[in-house]
Amino acid sequence: MSTKIILDCDPGHDDALAMMLALANPEIDLLAVTTSAGNQTPEKTLHNAMRLLTLMHHQEIPVAGGNRTPLLKPLETAGNVHGKSGLDGAELPEPDFDVQPLTAIELIAQTLRASADPVTLVVTGPMTNIALFLRVYPDLKAKIAQIVFMGGAMGLGNWTPSVEFNIYVDPEAAKIVLNAGIPLVMAPLNVTHKAQIMKPEIEAIGHIDNPVAHAFTGLLNFFEIYHENPKWGFQGAPLHDPCTIAWLLHPEWFQTEKMAVDVETAGELTRGETVCDYYELTGQPKNTEVLLNLNREAFIQLIADSLKTF
Ligand code: RIB
Ligand code: CA
Repeated sequence: MSTKIILDCDPGHDDALAMMLALANPEIDLLAVTTSAGNQTPEKTLHNAMRLLTLMHHQEIPVAGGNRTPLLKPLETAGNVHGKSGLDGAELPEPDFDVQPLTAIELIAQTLRASADPVTLVVTGPMTNIALFLRVYPDLKAKIAQIVFMGGAMGLGNWTPSVEFNIYVDPEAAKIVLNAGIPLVMAPLNVTHKAQIMKPEIEAIGHIDNPVAHAFTGLLNFFEIYHENPKWGFQGAPLHDPCTIAWLLHPEWFQTEKMAVDVETAGELTRGETVCDYYELTGQPKNTEVLLNLNREAFIQLIADSLKTF
């Protein structure tokens, strides 16, 4: 029985890996892709999603673009991490299929209505589309099985000292989603910083002889550059977004804790911080399963094995 998902993403190098894992493993049924503004502008993330599906020969998957800006904040993008295109480091094909004549929330609604069973939303960028969807289609909330998202952190930040990028871009959207009463699985920086790919592992992927693996080798080598800065203390590059799909495929590889998680939206220094009640100090409902550790070697092997299937 495969897990039906919609991927809402802002490709982005690690979003691309999450999409690849979803396409390469039949236990996941990728019903649709929607794109958000985050790593790059809305035009570029949409174009990148289309290029990736063309590269991986999955033009049958419907794609729609979403938010132009966050709900309240002006858009801030991450060209310093992902490059001018949002997917620098590889020659990717131009899209050879059409985007859907729908907005992201219309495609999500259409997809949920068409599915007999509830669908998992996998969110690997800012949560603007999901917040808008919940506000426009509250009647379809019951068709969402769970939301598995990469974002936030406990006591860490990668965009400000206490805030992770996806939540930083749209804190208000994250607050709406985390308080919607939908089962949540969170892949915070605490686990994704342990999900590092090392240079020799990227080199090994470079020996996989197919165009998709060649492209991803280029993407990984580019993505590694930003994370070489000694301030991070990394040995490799943290693969944030694919942790979501890896959890869906192999939850046994992850150490998790259930806890109450909410989002600070008013803090002068902390706006966008995910406040995780690890010690159950608030008595709030434990709304989120938080991924805290993983079997890194198995995770990297999954990526290599998945790339070999193209
Ligand atoms: O902070 C990491 C997250 O921000 C990842 O989803 C990456 O793709 C960027 O969107
Ligand atoms: Ca992302």
